[in-house]
Amino acid sequence: MITMTVDQERCIQCYSCIAECPFDLVNQDKEGYPQLRKAAVKKCIQCGHCMAICPTEALDISISPLADSRKVTRKLIPEPEAIENFLLSRRSTRTYKKKVVEHGILEDILNTSRYAPSAHNCQPVHWLMVENPEETRRFAEMVVERMAELKVFPGLIRAWNNGDDKVLRGAPHLAIAHANPADSEHPVEDCTLATAYLDLAAHSYGIGTCWAGFLMQIAHDHPPLTAALNLPEGHKVYTALMLGYPKTSFLRIPQRRELRVRWK
Ligand SMILES: Cc1cc2nc3c(=O)[nH]c(=O)nc-3n(C[C@H](O)[C@H](O)[C@H](O)COP(=O)(O)O)c2cc1C
Repeated sequence: MITMTVDQERCIQCYSCIAECPFDLVNQDKEGYPQLRKAAVKKCIQCGHCMAICPTEALDISISPLADSRKVTRKLIPEPEAIENFLLSRRSTRTYKKKVVEHGILEDILNTSRYAPSAHNCQPVHWLMVENPEETRRFAEMVVERMAELKVFPGLIRAWNNGDDKVLRGAPHLAIAHANPADSEHPVEDCTLATAYLDLAAHSYGIGTCWAGFLMQIAHDHPPLTAALNLPEGHKVYTALMLGYPKTSFLRIPQRRELRVRWK
């Protein structure tokens, strides 16, 4: 059951809530106040936009109560120049300190990732966060074992045998995003975006990251890895990210391809 309440003293009948609802589930009652249509029971995607957009805090909705919903702190939103510098300065980290990342920070950045967009606001993403560096190393080892079975990436296998981890780069932590494809029409995009948010949130804490493409490739292809992942029934691994404090920091922003865009 989903319920909407409107404080008539506060409502200024601006109808932002009506305009903002992705599925037109809010309309006007006889007196011109917003109300939830019956169709909301089935169609509401629980985005909370009707509550979040109300300029006078007149509208409350059971799926995202006003009292529990944080205010946007405008003055903390960085200027475009700061955002650009932040985004451009994120790099893939391939050398990590042994130091582990504090549990609370890992939890904070995972929590930030919950706010990534998801198709139909399905929010299908689950995480396995490998906190124990020995476990992370074991995951790298399993990837190398599978590479040896498949006779691929001989250089990476040789490096591993010489004590050099080119798979998870000696990162202390590994975040694996998994989901049940039945829970979303776009699980790949949902997991990718959540991982991108995690990546950027980590950057804001000075934590280095690198996408773990080798592990992503074999995640469903190696029984010991499947056992170690111990995913819920029906779940698939979509994305994975190494995390840890970088040994050194990047001083320059390397060049990238020119923008390719067609304007019409
Ligand atoms: C899906 C994906 C998989 C990746 N897999 C790996 C990987 O297995 N190992 C690695 O060292 N880098 C990996 N990378 C990092 C890319 O090589 C890196 O993003 C690219 O070279 C650009 O460098 P930058 O991230 O520092 O800008 C991966 C990146 C993506 C998006």
